[in-house]
Amino acid sequence: MSQLFTPITLRDVTVRNRAWVAPMCQYSAVDGLPNDWHLVHLGSFARGGAGLVFTEATAVVPEGRISPEDTGLWNDEQQAAWARIVDFVHAQGATAGIQLAHAGRKASTYSGLTVERGPVADADGGWQPVAPSAEPFPRLREDPAALDAAGIADVVAAFGDAAARAVAAGFDVLEVHAAHGYLLHEFLSPLSNHREDEYGCSFDNRVRLVLDVVREIRGRVADGVPVVVRLSATDWADGGWTGDDTVRLAGLLRDAGVDLVDTSTGGNVLADIPVGPGFQVPFARRIRTEAGIASGAVGLITEPKQAEDVLAEGSADVVLLGRELLREPHWPLRAAYELGESDPQLWPAQYRRAQR
Ligand SMILES: Cc1cc2nc3c(=O)[nH]c(=O)nc-3n(C[C@H](O)[C@H](O)[C@H](O)COP(=O)(O)O)c2cc1C
Repeated sequence: MSQLFTPITLRDVTVRNRAWVAPMCQYSAVDGLPNDWHLVHLGSFARGGAGLVFTEATAVVPEGRISPEDTGLWNDEQQAAWARIVDFVHAQGATAGIQLAHAGRKASTYSGLTVERGPVADADGGWQPVAPSAEPFPRLREDPAALDAAGIADVVAAFGDAAARAVAAGFDVLEVHAAHGYLLHEFLSPLSNHREDEYGCSFDNRVRLVLDVVREIRGRVADGVPVVVRLSATDWADGGWTGDDTVRLAGLLRDAGVDLVDTSTGGNVLADIPVGPGFQVPFARRIRTEAGIASGAVGLITEPKQAEDVLAEGSADVVLLGRELLREPHWPLRAAYELGESDPQLWPAQYRRAQR
């Protein structure tokens, strides 16, 4: 059997294969509610044979949305709407994961699906973002407010509440978004965190918030529920968060009960990123080999053989695909065909005539 189609078990959850769907914002929700678009979008990947389907970045509080059209999980209505989608994903044999997020200083931004760009003003439905320090991201809202101690405690509690709601909605796996320059990453990086309290300055202080969030979530959900954290393994910038920092944090996350680090990069500052096929895989490999925790590789993984090699060479435990799955939602079925997999269960009964 190929590595790609070897099941993987995290805590009480066994995922049918290692081709996972990366979180991808759709900017198509109203009041944080996922709708038929999200059902068909996510359902297509489950039908297409993915092992685990992650939702897009789903805000734990309204002010934690990137755009006004982000999905959320802070009320009963949203929980019920997600449950319907989770049920369909399960019915296709896939595992359902949700990415829980807070956009920090990158909040209140136009999605890019319309002609408008940049920050959304209050008059147009925007809001004041929060951040570790009152410093804006270039060309976004200029007025982020530094969180005080009570605000930080509220963020931690909101992640815990959303995690409990996610499990109640049926999600099997929870991912904490601590990458791409959103709130938790902003706390990690010395380029965006200039606090002088216990959440700033030293490494131990900058990683405190993400560890608080993980411990809160672990305390709010059953032991059998896997928790994944997405990190940006480097800021790709002098003086920023580094690969060494990531390995160190990954070990702390492992000790706090995290099961896998989903390894992305960048997004916290404007930077030149050496993008190319599998360009983030070396970071996933370091996490896995140096921190002793499972890792996921993501970023320009597009071919079945390439994905198989990443796993077979021991660089990651799972691969996540984004844009290639938008091009081809049935990519895992094609990969199974190309890698000679013969498990009929992977194929929806309706499509089995395409199996060979
Ligand atoms: C349309 C789109 C939306 C995205 N939204 C998110 C998101 O909500 N959360 C996140 O962590 N990454 C997001 N990403 C990044 C992807 O998860 C992934 O890391 C990135 O696209 C690189 O993988 P790829 O080369 O396979 O596309 C998004 C990417 C795309 C293309």
